Amino acid sequence: MARLVEVATAGEIPVGGRKSTNIDDLEIAIFNVDDEQFYAVEDVCSHDSGPLGEGEIINTYEVECPRHGARFDIRTGKALCMPAFEPIEAYPVVCKDGKIYIEIDW
Ligand code: FES
Repeated sequence: MARLVEVATAGEIPVGGRKSTNIDDLEIAIFNVDDEQFYAVEDVCSHDSGPLGEGEIINTYEVECPRHGARFDIRTGKALCMPAFEPIEAYPVVCKDGKIYIEIDW
């Protein structure tokens, strides 16, 4: 069953910014790539568990893992280059009344 979980207020994450947070045992990174467009992905690289929330954003929608340089599409979680082959989880984001929620299956 999917549920919305509040992860931040919109003001917490400026354009170009990000926030890493935990929900139960899930590590999640939320990115604000342009004017209030937020994306949320698993904060664990599928190659060797690098912290993607600390990675650089490239080409607007790609996060580069700070450990070995794999890139992922933050819209879909798709792995875009080696050394990662497996995708990461991408979570739907809902912005409502100045708060950011992600949709998680429980
Ligand atoms: S841990 Fe992310 S590329 Fe290796």
